[in-house]
Amino acid sequence: MLSSLGNKHLAHSAIRNCTSFFSWISASVVFITIIANSSVSFGQSAIRPPNYDESAVPKYDLPNVLAGKDGKVITAINQWSEHRKYLLELLAENEYGSMPTDLVDIEVEKFDDGPAILQDKEEPGIRRRQFVITLKRNGKFVKIDMLLWTPNGSFEQVNCFVGLNFRGNQSTTDDPKVRLTSSWCDARNPGVVNNHATEASRASQGERWPIREIVRAGYGVATAHYGDIDPDFDDGFENGVHALFPEYRCTETTPERWGAIAAWAWGLSRLVDVLTKTDGISPNGMMVLGHSRLGKTALWAGANDERFKIVISNNSGCGGAALSKRCFGESVARINTSFPHWFNRNFRRFNDREDGMPFDQHQLVAAIAPRPVYISSASKDLWADPLGELLSGYHAAPAYSLFGLSGGLPSNLPAVNQSIGETIGYHLREGEHDLMSSDWQYFIQFAKRHGL
Ligand code: GCU
Repeated sequence: MLSSLGNKHLAHSAIRNCTSFFSWISASVVFITIIANSSVSFGQSAIRPPNYDESAVPKYDLPNVLAGKDGKVITAINQWSEHRKYLLELLAENEYGSMPTDLVDIEVEKFDDGPAILQDKEEPGIRRRQFVITLKRNGKFVKIDMLLWTPNGSFEQVNCFVGLNFRGNQSTTDDPKVRLTSSWCDARNPGVVNNHATEASRASQGERWPIREIVRAGYGVATAHYGDIDPDFDDGFENGVHALFPEYRCTETTPERWGAIAAWAWGLSRLVDVLTKTDGISPNGMMVLGHSRLGKTALWAGANDERFKIVISNNSGCGGAALSKRCFGESVARINTSFPHWFNRNFRRFNDREDGMPFDQHQLVAAIAPRPVYISSASKDLWADPLGELLSGYHAAPAYSLFGLSGGLPSNLPAVNQSIGETIGYHLREGEHDLMSSDWQYFIQFAKRHGL
């Protein structure tokens, strides 16, 4: 299944592989060039065409997740916290970029509280709340709309899934009371005019957020639009929450600083600042989840912020759960060219040089230990390398063993549509790159299995 792929998928990947108008143009150029020459030119450098052949995966060595800078392997739990810091610094420095640690002022205004209205019917069992969260620093501010669903009338605090969405809160539900986002939206999405959402975008990604099922299972679920935190286009790391820290910009002379994924991850932590003080929500029951680029974000947020008790990444691919050194599907050069703003500038040093990377994505999964982590793939999502996503979980296991916990993943892909693993969970959903209610069923079972 993972061994060959025709031009149809290359086209699909190139098209799925773009967000801004400019990256769309470059993706189209890539596709055209691939067909013509089977190699791609961008100015001076040529990007290797994507590999979908398992037998062409190079031999690679992965650093032991318990090995430190000097190569020494830690053996005791009391060495973990220092070691985890090392892993986070390694990944921040070389890939996502370091986040500022200064605090911002946070103002919260609840502007809506009422029963959900789903498919034109009031749902008295589901409470909808909306907040505007204002982050302020040095006279500048950023506003984030947060939508929260919880069981209504429950006197117990509930555990809560937290995840960003791609198209605005209104796109996650047909509830007409959910406010339309006013921030930047990708112009290629339905119902978006001049990079702004219109009413036609409502519920356009509703199937990704099965509110009824989640709330009926006893959970809260909070979401915010990633464009509120940082608009998803290359502007030289200046807009969104980057603007609150102008002195902390990622530049040629400070190539180690935060890109967009780190900004979205930082934003997720600000949502947690608010949620942990919101009535009805258990401050110890935060679970972060995300799909695709927001799955990369969920992993980075979860690795950094231990308030996330469970971390879930769906179809996160390159720069997420997939091992870069396998060079399967999307490559480092490809992602850095299509999305120069997602990672820091240092990450570009590994364009077409995955073998020279002193790290890989299994260390990202390991940095979450001992907290449970769940990785999900889709069988037709070869661009995201399902086997590479599984293998990160497999190779992260020693970090869990340190705590006497079993990761529990095999090194071969399981059959589709079954959830496997122990403290590190995994499933391969049959089908395309997407987040579906069947994925959510596995996430909910995993949370229950781990006591949340
Ligand atoms: C593109 C990109 C992926 C990313 C995905 C998404 O396909 O190449 O790395 O995960 O977009 O976020 O939708």
